[in-house]
Amino acid sequence: MIKKSILLTGTAGFIGSNFVPYFLEKYPEYNLINIDLLTYAGDLENLKECEVNPRYKFIKGDISNRELIEFIFEEYNIQGVIHFAAESHVDNSIKNPGIFIETNINGTYTLVDVAKNYWMNKPFEYKDNYKECRFHHISTDEVYGTLSEDPKDLFTETTPYAPNSPYSASKASSDMIIRSYNETYGLNTIITNCSNNYGPKQHDEKLIPTIIRKALNNESIPIYGDGKNIRDWLYVLDHCKGIDIVYHNGITANTYNIGGRNERTNLQIVDRICSILDEKVPSSKLNSYKELITFVEDRAGHDRRYAIDASKLENELSWKADENFDSGIIKTIDWYLGKYNDK
Ligand SMILES: NC(=O)c1ccc[n+]([C@@H]2O[C@H](COP(=O)([O-])OP(=O)(O)OC[C@H]3O[C@@H](n4cnc5c(N)ncnc54)[C@H](O)[C@@H]3O)[C@@H](O)[C@H]2O)c1
Repeated sequence: MIKKSILLTGTAGFIGSNFVPYFLEKYPEYNLINIDLLTYAGDLENLKECEVNPRYKFIKGDISNRELIEFIFEEYNIQGVIHFAAESHVDNSIKNPGIFIETNINGTYTLVDVAKNYWMNKPFEYKDNYKECRFHHISTDEVYGTLSEDPKDLFTETTPYAPNSPYSASKASSDMIIRSYNETYGLNTIITNCSNNYGPKQHDEKLIPTIIRKALNNESIPIYGDGKNIRDWLYVLDHCKGIDIVYHNGITANTYNIGGRNERTNLQIVDRICSILDEKVPSSKLNSYKELITFVEDRAGHDRRYAIDASKLENELSWKADENFDSGIIKTIDWYLGKYNDK
């Protein structure tokens, strides 16, 4: 079997490191070339299970380093890109927006520009052996801004972009660059905009790992503002399956929203997690971990509600989430109990 090499970026992070083992196992015809800068958010421990696989190659490097990206395309004859790498934490983007512009905008530009040059002779003309090559950009629902609390108000693929944080603005910009490479050069591009993910291997700084860790350490659990901000939670493996389907079957130049139809306020999330922990690992000091919940000053510019209408992906490409929040959160808590109890 002739193997195709696909370049995956940012795979030492949360979603990428869930995607790689899934994709390696499902597609024996692919070699996966992984590039990750191993910032504070990347951890090779997340990919340990893949290291023995001869079709897995890891390169430490920056997606903004054009020379390195060109070398990788030549060396491995890259025939597809799935681009996860990003600075991804909204709080960090408020404190230090510059790196978000650098990685999320300039890094995406470098990657897509090198791909275009490597695969194409000129606008709308692919080189002979590269006609099937596709660039899949992983993005977020945060590009659409915030929604009202009316349950019928949902993000669709045609919702106008209205990013509110430096993070979402940098992701929106990167989406526009990808769009322009399709419109201007005819590059085979595709974008997925996904809602909040949860599951194994997420960085400690994010909401769900923070709740679990703080509870187990008997520390106060910080919740922004009134805790009533709503997010649409999707189990990370369902996101990975959605990416797989869109990468293989999505229509060129389209965008697809991916979301779990699992809207929860932050208060509902913390409440559910504490109840599960109360059953699995009861505290010797507290009646319930809920006693640790502490409201802290709200995040600047905190979007009130995100919720995805995923019917395009469900109806056109037959994707559906396998987990609902109640099943996914149990798997997630079990994973973190293993991680934090090993420390
Ligand atoms: N986590 C979510 O809920 C969510 C939801 C929707 C979309 N997304 C998008 O999915 C993608 C992955 O998110 P995540 O949660 O896994 O993020 P993450 O922060 O866990 O991982 C990002 C990875 O990118 C790497 N990276 C950062 N800068 C780099 C650079 N300049 N060059 C190479 N590698 C670099 C980091 O080392 C890290 O391993 C991002 O594009 C994000 O915008 C995330």
